[in-house]
Amino acid sequence: MLERGMHGQWNSNLTFLLTATGSAIGLGNIWKFPYITGEYGGSAFVLMYLVCIALVGLPIMVAETLLGRRGRLSPINGLRHVALESGRSARWQAVGYLGVMTGLLILSFYTVIAGWAMRYVWTTLSGAFSGQSAQQVGEHFNQLLQNPGAMVFWHSVFSVMTAGVVMAGVTKGLALVSRWMMPFLFAALLLLLIYAAWAGDFARGFAFMFHFEPEKLTAKAVLAALGHSFFTLSLGMGAIMAYGAYMPAQAPIGKTIVWVASLDTLVALVVGLAIFPIVFAVGIAPNSGPGLLFVSLPVAFGAMPLGALVGSLFFMLVAVAAWSSAVSIIEPGVAWLVESGRFSRFSATLALALSAWALGLLTVLSFNHLADFKPAWLLHRTFFDFFDLLTAQVLLPLGGVLMCVLVGWLMQKRVLLDELEGDASRWFPLWRFLVRFVSPLLVIWVMSATLMESLGK
Ligand code: TRP
Repeated sequence: MLERGMHGQWNSNLTFLLTATGSAIGLGNIWKFPYITGEYGGSAFVLMYLVCIALVGLPIMVAETLLGRRGRLSPINGLRHVALESGRSARWQAVGYLGVMTGLLILSFYTVIAGWAMRYVWTTLSGAFSGQSAQQVGEHFNQLLQNPGAMVFWHSVFSVMTAGVVMAGVTKGLALVSRWMMPFLFAALLLLLIYAAWAGDFARGFAFMFHFEPEKLTAKAVLAALGHSFFTLSLGMGAIMAYGAYMPAQAPIGKTIVWVASLDTLVALVVGLAIFPIVFAVGIAPNSGPGLLFVSLPVAFGAMPLGALVGSLFFMLVAVAAWSSAVSIIEPGVAWLVESGRFSRFSATLALALSAWALGLLTVLSFNHLADFKPAWLLHRTFFDFFDLLTAQVLLPLGGVLMCVLVGWLMQKRVLLDELEGDASRWFPLWRFLVRFVSPLLVIWVMSATLMESLGK
């Protein structure tokens, strides 16, 4: 029989804060945010993103943490417990299964991109980009993409790093990585920002991100912003729920989550404020594709003082941020397999990491042998683009809406008040209103618009 809370809880809320922040800050902030900001023309996207974080991300993150702490088990079994407690169907655990599958899909491409970053730590340090033109650096990146062997190698290295930490356990692995890595991350970022302000074109970078031009505020920008707010906060698949299960009983959920979301948003903005000035400084337009980080930025570093060193530090930051995120993507599935009693932590992690690794080969091939394989059943996209779209813009928001329904409409108010006791009660009505109406309706509207648009293509 499953005993609630059998895995114990962290004795300090700081551990939850660090692990949740470690999960939130990752490739989403450093790789994805700048390039979609570039893609949607800058400021309008940034503003929409901030609105989405406030109206959708924050309320759902509180709901997901609350679900996790109330369940005190893996997301799958925890959801079952929480639903039964309020007299609802045990089938709500399906949201947990959905999350585990979503996690496998996300991890499969996440480790490939993180692998690129790891490779660039060395390439940049070696000075290979010094004085190179945009074309030459672009060529270099292309060569990597055309080389499945190299990509699989780094994909594997990163997968092993991720699995290693997860095998070490929640407290001795996941929490420890975040505890050591977060300070490094913030220090490196601060250094980068100072560097950007000193050597970059700060005014132009700043204007690109914050100069408001209403005509850029297209529906597509809104959709991308919403999908990204789920991805960047690690919402909708149970990662935050899995960590919430270890949160101390008395800790204030709302207050802690405001910290996590603020830190995550701050990092995204600071990364933008570091990257765009550097890119503008060497007079290139921000490349709007996934290559922004791997082409425009190395070109800029190659032309700047101390570029090899600072550039390498930057890619190290990317890899480390991705590391503390990747572990959270796989944890819900691992926790569930361990609870089943049929797996040790080692074998559970091995099974899931290996599955994600194998699935990741499709992402590797999406950039070379299968680059032109865009069948209708992948919505005319490569596997990689399809997985990205499916997870960020469909599965995560879907998970988020289901959590809103459960927390906002089906759970007993008494339970919610009980879990949110540590927070100021004056916020409760506003939060509940957002979770019941605003967040789910916004998400449903955005999801249907996205789906219709992609099907129409
Ligand atoms: N939030 C991380 C990032 O921005 C990625 C991530 C970690 C994630 N865990 C997740 C995304 C769970 C979705 C769901 O890079």
